[in-house]
Amino acid sequence: MANIVELRPGAVAVIVVDNPPVNALKQAVRAGLRDAFTRARDDAGIHAIVLTAAGRTFMAGADITEFDKPPQPPGLVEVFDLMEASKKPIVAALFGTPLGGGLEVALTCHYRVAAPTTRLGLPEIKLGILPGAGGTQRLPRLIGVDKALPMILSGDPISAQEALANGLVDEIVEGDVTEGAIAFARRLLAEKAPLKRARDMEDKLKPYRDNPKLYDEVVAKSAKRTRGLAAPAAAIECVRWSFEKPFDEAERGVREAFQKLREGDQSKAQRHIFFAEREAAKVPDIPASTKPRDIKRAAVIGAGTMGGGISMCFANAGIPVTIIETSQEALDKGLATIKRNYENTVKRGGLKADEMERRVKLMTGTTDLAAGVREADIVVEAVFEDMGLKKEVFGKLDKLAKPDAVLATNTSYLNVNEIGKATARPPSVLGMHFFSPANVMRLLEIVRGAETAPDVLATAIAVGRKIGKVPAVVGVTHGFVGNRMLHARGIEAERMLLEGALPQDVDGALTEFGFPMGPFGMGDLAGLDVGWRVRKASGAKAEIADALVDAGRYGQKTGKGFYKYEGGSRSPTPDPDVEKLIVEASVRHGVKRRNLDRKEIFERLIFPLINEGARILDEGIAMRPGDIDVIWVYGYGWPVWTGGPMHYADRVGLSYIRDRLAEIAARAGNNPKLEPSPLLMRLADSGGTFAGLKKAA
Ligand code: CAA
Ligand code: NAI
Repeated sequence: MANIVELRPGAVAVIVVDNPPVNALKQAVRAGLRDAFTRARDDAGIHAIVLTAAGRTFMAGADITEFDKPPQPPGLVEVFDLMEASKKPIVAALFGTPLGGGLEVALTCHYRVAAPTTRLGLPEIKLGILPGAGGTQRLPRLIGVDKALPMILSGDPISAQEALANGLVDEIVEGDVTEGAIAFARRLLAEKAPLKRARDMEDKLKPYRDNPKLYDEVVAKSAKRTRGLAAPAAAIECVRWSFEKPFDEAERGVREAFQKLREGDQSKAQRHIFFAEREAAKVPDIPASTKPRDIKRAAVIGAGTMGGGISMCFANAGIPVTIIETSQEALDKGLATIKRNYENTVKRGGLKADEMERRVKLMTGTTDLAAGVREADIVVEAVFEDMGLKKEVFGKLDKLAKPDAVLATNTSYLNVNEIGKATARPPSVLGMHFFSPANVMRLLEIVRGAETAPDVLATAIAVGRKIGKVPAVVGVTHGFVGNRMLHARGIEAERMLLEGALPQDVDGALTEFGFPMGPFGMGDLAGLDVGWRVRKASGAKAEIADALVDAGRYGQKTGKGFYKYEGGSRSPTPDPDVEKLIVEASVRHGVKRRNLDRKEIFERLIFPLINEGARILDEGIAMRPGDIDVIWVYGYGWPVWTGGPMHYADRVGLSYIRDRLAEIAARAGNNPKLEPSPLLMRLADSGGTFAGLKKAA
């Protein structure tokens, strides 16, 4: 086995970290670095040191798997003390993604050079922690408080070019970055350049020391939505200490804050999602070596709400896409919407105009299905949600598409196996269920049909990744995983209105928990007429929602739904007319309205959803509880800091949820949908957890 940390001696010695795949700073790496820096210090033949890594990236951070265990010495700080005491210049040779602890190592070097494609960042906030090894103190000293705080609070990386401009790196080198760093170190020696230690730099802190109020402005500009989150508030404090306290005192406080966050429930939940996200696209019976098909060109059928967004995803990833519609009018309308969406992003500064042009040029429209799909390696169908129509389209695709094309449907509910049977090639068919707006939402439910071929599934996963989605593989069932669970959440929502709650009470229970909106706000956004049409067709009823539609209240699009939206506003205002309508319905049903507290409302919404998740797991429709968590976090706005429904359920305790569900079901006239599911019963009775299921498997 290669050394995890190798010291290559020489006048300019090179220390190489080799811990694939991302050179995470696990204990053995930290110990190796300590030993290598000690040897470099003691070796009189060494005059300067270059620090770099093997493989695809400079260290991409701490080893996150170690966060659940007690800290193992040496800590990074011990390594940093050695580095900062060095009389020999240390130059970091950066490439790939120096992130988190990896960037903190680089910040402790005297100088930094980077390959042009390097992306540098402190993503700790995304794991519910903060940069615990000097990042909050050294970065403000190097690039200024106003530039450091946004990096720390967003967790997003910056480019090498930006890092050069703000002083985070000293030089960008073309070609071999280690060679570039060695040449840089030789120049330092020749010029007898000073050892630049970030901890000693004071210039950029001075304005804040003189006028601490300046910091409030920086905070106001940098802080995004932080409601409910512990890490951003702590990070803001830690950066404040950079100009309020001496370095070592500040760092002691930072370490305490870091440990508190690391041990807290929020970070545990966010770490769970980090790993679950990577696991959700892994299919145990499909070897990782399965070769995806080559995707050079895509076709999307339907230029409506979803087809437009899906086409944008392909174009954004540089994949040429043909959009197919039934009429020129529908096509023009769809293309115009796409263009408007891009233009809005350009106006907001999210996209350069020439980049927009490049993307728009990758899109072609046609009303000729045969011409549109002839060249496509993948076809995504996004026509109306109608089985007859979908079968007709797939029947045609079978005759027109290339023999090895992947044929995907974006259906929200329909049976993918039945759609596949409309072709003579069901192994090529699967579901690729995007979420609205498709160009924004990260989740992609990949629906594996009974006959879907392994390489077709592997292709959908690879394409999903390429277009920036988080793929989660699921099985065939009505509504797949997300919408089936969403439906379970809705069962009690309307009943609670009749019992005494108002829409804002029900939605408030979810927004308080961290969802961006509740079921009624979401209904207004999607359009109440959509569900109404489905109910009319199936003979189902939803008394309040139906009455609203009958009164012309379709939701945001008509300015009125469960709420009113005044003057084109998209934020809901409670409406006394709706309250009247609800109270009258209660009277009609002979229900004496009562006060429902937030806890009751929350449990009656969320526990049935968790229960349905358990059924889905039991049926094998989802492979792992973590997959369900990923689906809810990335597709339905479940607050990431609570880890998704199944992780959250384990935290609440399954026996409590079982007992509450039994009560809820009994009160709802023994509704079987609400009865605790067999898996939930089994786990609750045996003191088990959903997370434990994975370990037992
Ligand atoms: N610790 C442990 N494992 C890690 C890891 C880390 N920091 N980063 C990535 N991995 C693992 C992944 O789980 C994955 O494992 P599997 O192959 O078994 O699924 C593997 O490495 C490859 O990762 P990706 O699939 O994500 O590869 P990618 O090329 O798409 O992305 C990356 C690479 C940009 C580095 C991405 O993995 C990433 O963002 N990693 C996390 C970086 C991070 O958050 N660093 C900060 C850690 S916290 C810290 O450093 C705190 C501190 O104070 C010291
Ligand atoms: P939409 O009504 O906005 O768009 C459908 C488009 O398909 C229309 O422009 C129509 O002209 C076109 N079309 C119909 N028949 C066609 C044919 N034979 N060939 C080419 N084009 C044809 O519908 P939307 O919302 O985009 O939904 C499309 C699909 O995506 C449905 O299956 C829906 O269930 C699913 N879906 C919808 C989501 C949503 O939030 N709207 C979310 C996820 C999936």
